[in-house]
This record gives sequence, C-alpha cells and structure tokens, in this order.
Amino acid sequence: MYTAAIVTLSDKGYAGEREDRSGQRLKELLTEHSYQVVSYRLLPDDAKLLQEELVRLADEVGCSLVLTTGGTGFSLRDTTPEATMAIAHRNAPGIAEGLRAYSLQFTPRAILSRGVSVIRNQTLIINLPGSVKAVEESMAFLMGSIEHGLAVLTGQEGECGRG
Ligand code: MTE
Repeated sequence: MYTAAIVTLSDKGYAGEREDRSGQRLKELLTEHSYQVVSYRLLPDDAKLLQEELVRLADEVGCSLVLTTGGTGFSLRDTTPEATMAIAHRNAPGIAEGLRAYSLQFTPRAILSRGVSVIRNQTLIINLPGSVKAVEESMAFLMGSIEHGLAVLTGQEGECGRG
C-alpha cells in the first residue's frame, strides 16, 4: 500500500465560497485503489504556499504520491505547474503527456491544462486539473499505469527488465 497526499488549489475554495468536491473525490478514488491518504490540504492559488506544502509532503511526510488538483489552466492565478517545477528534482514528463493525450477523448480543451509530473526524492508529484469531471477522467488513466513507477521509485521493485 502506497501513501498519498492531496493538495487542492482554489482561491474560491480557500475563501469558503466553494466546496472542494475535486479534493474529496480524489480522496475517495485513491482509497478505492488502496492508497493510504495521509494528508489533504486546501490552499489558495499561491505558488509559494504550494511549494512549501510539496516540500513538506515529500521531505517530512515522505509520501509516495502527491496529487494536486486545480491551478493548471491559463488564468494569471494558475501557477500550480510553476510551483511544482520549482521544487522538482527530476522531470517525469510522460505521465503529464499521457494524461493530456488520454483526456483528448473527453474534451479538446484537455490541451489547456499545463499540468506537470515530477519527482522529488522518492515522491511522485502529479498535477491534475480542477474539476470533478477532470479528476475522475484523470484517475481512470493514472491508476494502474503509475504503480510500476512508484514501486521502482520507492525501491520495492527493480527497474524494467532487471527483476
Ligand atoms: N482534462 C480532462 N480529462 N477533463 C476535462 O474536463 N478540462 C480542461 C483541462 N483538462 C478537462 C481536462 C479545461 S476546460 C481546463 S481550463 C484545464 O484542464 C485547466 O483546468 P484547471 O485550471 O482547473 O487546472
């Protein structure tokens, strides 16, 4: 069982003007897929706060997987990808690329998500768009496709073809 954390980025959610349904849905889906959700936080669209939270989750909590939701679009307040890249040690672009390609079957607007996927220490961090619909579609793609990566990252499995 892998540990997972959720960070929702939403100015309106943080101000109490909107319920964080995406974060809640992510929690349900992660639990259904046997992840142990050890942290959930709702933050405003603030790059510095997100960087601090991602560093905490990777370096102090030591989560295997961190999923963010929201703040990946074109609004000037959408800075989730930049904050994530700023604290990354290594890029893992295939996940974000695959997610966007998969999402095109649902909406051509999938190209408008600038979400990234990166590694910091032994933590995989993936940005998801902010809507419940996007979260559900993204999770259908991710669950099952990232497990081998997590196993290698956390030292539970060797690299591909090396046992
Ligand atoms: N991806 C999927 N799978 N399903 C969606 O409905 N919506 C898109 C895109 N990616 C969408 C999606 C839209 S409309 C936007 S604007 C971007 O995600 C950015 O969303 P965000 O600003 O909430 O992060």
